[in-house]
Amino acid sequence: MESSEIKKIIPQEDIWTNLETLEARLLEVTSSDNKYLEEISQYLIKAGGKRFRPLIALLAGKFGDIEKTSNVIDAGVAVELIHIGSLYHDDVIDNASIRRGVQSSNKKWSSTLSILAGDYLLARSSELAAEKLGLESVKLLASTYAELVEGQTNEIELSYNLNHTIDDYMKVIEGKTASLIRTSAKLGAIAAGANEEVVESLSNWGWNCGIIFQISDDLLDISSTSEVLGKPAGNDLLEGTYTLPVLIALNKDKEKFSDILKGIQEGNIKVDDALDEFKDSHIINETKDVINHYYNKSVESIYNLKNHELFKVLENINSYLINRTN
Ligand code: IPE
Ligand code: IPE
Ligand code: MG
Ligand code: MG
Repeated sequence: MESSEIKKIIPQEDIWTNLETLEARLLEVTSSDNKYLEEISQYLIKAGGKRFRPLIALLAGKFGDIEKTSNVIDAGVAVELIHIGSLYHDDVIDNASIRRGVQSSNKKWSSTLSILAGDYLLARSSELAAEKLGLESVKLLASTYAELVEGQTNEIELSYNLNHTIDDYMKVIEGKTASLIRTSAKLGAIAAGANEEVVESLSNWGWNCGIIFQISDDLLDISSTSEVLGKPAGNDLLEGTYTLPVLIALNKDKEKFSDILKGIQEGNIKVDDALDEFKDSHIINETKDVINHYYNKSVESIYNLKNHELFKVLENINSYLINRTN
């Protein structure tokens, strides 16, 4: 997702001006007397990224009081720092080589330093939330991070497991991805002092949006190419992370797809060859049916906000995530 493409979906100029302020805040709150730590922990901040979570926080903040914009910006900073902290850790977990189009920090420095950099960003996020957002937000961020870690652990527990269910998969992605996207919306709305009903609607929208985000990402791993993704296609298969399209395939023909997955694990089948089998139109379409189910749920969640100027924008964000898979 190029940021220029998201720009077309979010025509509100103030969001982009606020995002610039947010960029500066990210660097400001992560500065350190230890310049070595600062260099490593700001490396992925400077490498870019879509800033999807802060954008969600900024949009949600527009459902509240405009005078509270600086708090909303800090809410966006807090969620992005948690996200980036978790990416440092995720790249150690996944032994990744590339992140945000650059060499991952575990390869550039080491796993040990990446763990410390991730810890540092998480600590600064809590500090910022405590200073600017208050106890309720600190608690929300902490419980969200706990959910994220539960999801990541759950994924590892299930790796290479040919018998796990779609419900198991949903629990993983709810924890590792949907929880923080939901919290991005919720925190932005709370920081702007939006009323309870609005906070609840935006939260539910964010939750469903997060699920769409991750299933689309998982589908792209199967259906797209390494050139488009900027990381090796089929990487999830190689790591033993069996996502929704893979589970759908296993439900269709357990013997055939188990053999393929075992072949990949044992190094007897090339991922590229296996991908052709998973690119079956029934598998792809069934995955898209699930995505569409969550799309409908996400729009229903904000139906009470349908007269707001941003309703269409929120709807378009989810359509955009889906269109990436077409
Ligand atoms: C990557 O998140 C991790 C997932 C939840 C799939 P993003 O795709 O939002 O990564 P950046 O922030 O743009 O780098
Ligand atoms: C990213 O998950 C990390 C979190 C969601 C916490 P993945 O391992 O699925 O995503 P990429 O491919 O590394 O971005
Ligand atoms: Mg990863
Ligand atoms: Mg991972």
